Amino acid sequence: MELIPLAASAQHEQVVLAADPAIGYRAIIAIHSTRRGPAVGGTRLWTYRSDDDALHDALRLSSAMTLKNAVADLPFGGGKSVIMRPPGAFDRRRIMEAHGAAVDSLGGRYITAEDVGTSADDMDLIATTTRHVLGRPLHGGDPSPFTARGGVRALQAAVQFTRGADALAGLAVVIQGLGNVGIEVARMVTAEGALVRGADVDAARIERAVREPGLQILPPEQALEAEADAVMPCALGGVLHADAIARLRCRMVTGVANNQLETDADALRLHDRGIVYVPDFVANAGGVISGAADLLGWSAQALYRKIDAIYDTALAILRQSEARRVTPQQVAVEMAQAAVG
Ligand code: NAI
Repeated sequence: MELIPLAASAQHEQVVLAADPAIGYRAIIAIHSTRRGPAVGGTRLWTYRSDDDALHDALRLSSAMTLKNAVADLPFGGGKSVIMRPPGAFDRRRIMEAHGAAVDSLGGRYITAEDVGTSADDMDLIATTTRHVLGRPLHGGDPSPFTARGGVRALQAAVQFTRGADALAGLAVVIQGLGNVGIEVARMVTAEGALVRGADVDAARIERAVREPGLQILPPEQALEAEADAVMPCALGGVLHADAIARLRCRMVTGVANNQLETDADALRLHDRGIVYVPDFVANAGGVISGAADLLGWSAQALYRKIDAIYDTALAILRQSEARRVTPQQVAVEMAQAAVG
């Protein structure tokens, strides 16, 4: 196992490239900040076109974790790791064990968890070589239902802000991405009486979704531009860019996907169009809150209370944004930065 320090950016505390060529393991672990506590953030397993792409992803995702953990008032800093998926077949067990060893060598400054491309079972494999891992099957497990609950609270806050009441009955909602979180969001908002349409690019996910009572399916290319009260991006990042924002036909955007804005300017584009946007790192903190509950031994009641507080945080951000005539993104980033100190 090789661990090569990368001089990535002045804003990150530590960034390393971890590699074990014998098994095709290559990963970047980025620690953005440990000022509030150990850097917590998941492990993404993804096919990257280049090392530079992987580095860019790790840097962006880890700094977003600092903001997310700070706004959620968790005693954590921000970090993230990305494993560059080897081409062809690979030994998943050995890759995860190697990753655990890399995480372990950071001595607890970084604690990992699942993310896109990894599962709670992978966390069990990682746990064979490090104890600095959250979300194992018998320890909190899949964070998705908790992320979904927080995402729905963020939607309710946006509805309260725009309509003066937070009931979802009759609200037209479109969900982009019916994966682990998206399908749970769909179930929860349908149960609240919303009129829900959803889209996915994956045939298996659509097959599952068509069996959900009350959920209508849209072609994926129509999801963001569908006429609706709220659009919830629950697929991948970078979906809110100049072109997509110009075509939105909704009043609110409140999804759980990480890094939805392609650039900082997109927050202003949404604002200028009068679209109420709950910053992603506020809306999607439910998953990391469930990891915190496991690590810190919180009761189920304390866990749900903390997730439900996303409603208050999101509403406070929207109100402040209105009062100060700045974007919700700016308010949320400033709030996080103040909490990091
Ligand atoms: P997932 O991989 O289970 O679901 C994503 C879904 O989006 C997949 O079904 C995929 O086919 C679909 N998709 C991809 N491109 C699409 C497109 N253009 N149009 C429509 N559908 C598309 O991932 P998961 O766990 O549900 O996470 C969703 C998002 O939320 C990700 O961005 C993730 O980083 C973020 N997130 C997830 C958390 C969790 O607890 N799982 C926690 C915090 C953030």
